[in-house]
Amino acid sequence: MAFLFPIDMNLQGKKILLGVSASIAAYKAPLIVRELIKQGAEVRVVMTPSAEVFVSRTVLMNLSKHPVPMDMFEDDIQDGGSWHIHLAHWCDAMLIAPCSATSLARLACGFYDTALSIIACALPKSIPLLIAPAMDSDMWEHPAVQRNIELLKQDGAIIIPPAIGELASGIFGPGRLPEIDVLIEECVQAISDIPVLSTKPIRTIPIEMHEEIPQKLPLYGKHVLITAGPTYERIDDVRFIGNFSSGKMGFALARHCAKQGALVTLICGPVALKTPEGAIHRIDIESAQEMYEAVMKNSAKQDIIIMSAAVADFTPEEKYEGKIKKSQSDSMQISLKKTTDILAELGRNKNDHQVLIGFALESHDAIAYGKKKIIDKNCDMMIVNAANQVDSGFGGDNNTITILDRFGTVTEFSPMTKDACADIIIQHIHSLSEQA
Ligand code: CTP
Repeated sequence: MAFLFPIDMNLQGKKILLGVSASIAAYKAPLIVRELIKQGAEVRVVMTPSAEVFVSRTVLMNLSKHPVPMDMFEDDIQDGGSWHIHLAHWCDAMLIAPCSATSLARLACGFYDTALSIIACALPKSIPLLIAPAMDSDMWEHPAVQRNIELLKQDGAIIIPPAIGELASGIFGPGRLPEIDVLIEECVQAISDIPVLSTKPIRTIPIEMHEEIPQKLPLYGKHVLITAGPTYERIDDVRFIGNFSSGKMGFALARHCAKQGALVTLICGPVALKTPEGAIHRIDIESAQEMYEAVMKNSAKQDIIIMSAAVADFTPEEKYEGKIKKSQSDSMQISLKKTTDILAELGRNKNDHQVLIGFALESHDAIAYGKKKIIDKNCDMMIVNAANQVDSGFGGDNNTITILDRFGTVTEFSPMTKDACADIIIQHIHSLSEQA
């Protein structure tokens, strides 16, 4: 965890052992060494053999001015045969950055076949082991990796969570090696916090400062799918049946979820809005059928699904290719068929861990209809808004919402901006999860 309160970035005279393993982020290892040295630290490096694919051992040796053990039986590192014990006792902290999924597994299971893992095993209890995992999002989220993380935490390792962002694979998500200053802050923190009987200074944080330590982002790493905007149902190649939804409510929700650390999939109909900043994967669709397909393709891994889109209930039975000419007849009938109710389909296939939220736009008996929709569509929450009031519904920057939940609670709110509504809706999702 990164700390926002100021810490003197001072590693003067400290000895840091940097472990480098085979993640693409290993190319940053020379920069980590350089920055640690700039902060006054003495640095030694150890690397796994496969890390050499991503970073040069010679560069690390030159920067740290020491040999870089890779194979534990190499002649020139033996130091009387107990080189791993000597190095482990030499350092004030060991930082493994980046730590690959394989190295995590080695450390968690006590598989000491590399120079890196055997030193980590030899570390005395009083010396902190910091681990900065870096890998692709799906690997990071894999149950085996998460299990290993839990095991390592139980063993007393300090896990520096990966940052969220664009990964080498092009995927957006958690898995990036955090910025170097975050790694350094963590080292400073860990070294200062060692509860030693010895000469090491103990940095104490006044009680009131504990409050300032940012908690883990509440939606960190959660997958959230949000639909937004209208759908257009084509009559012919130039005309469609649509509605006045602007998409602003859904986009505000996407922005707030991303700010809280979520990995957002935003599926939107035709809107004139810029994708908000953050880990948001936007998928543009046109029709209710396309929205249905995109939602279904992405729904299984979601923790939270918010259907704020105004999906067309009906679509033309037949689509005319080209443009219908008015000279063809004096009147025209368009036969419509029902679209698939996406929310109801999600409700039927809901996982135990999923939170499903719908929106209900009503012109009368709003609460009664909202309650019925919660049950009919197997939702956890329904956000009801009025279709025929100022400061509510489509268009505009404001909305007037009532939140209904599956426990029967009805909470009404005064008109407010869609941004503020998004904030309140997310707060309700958190409190609903706490009640579950
Ligand atoms: N919805 C959906 N798929 C549809 C229609 C609606 O997923 N084909 C979702 C909307 O995104 C919204 C919820 O269902 O979250 C309620 O939509 P709303 O239009 O208020 O209600 P309907 O179920 O369509 O019923 P009615 O129009 O009769 O009120």
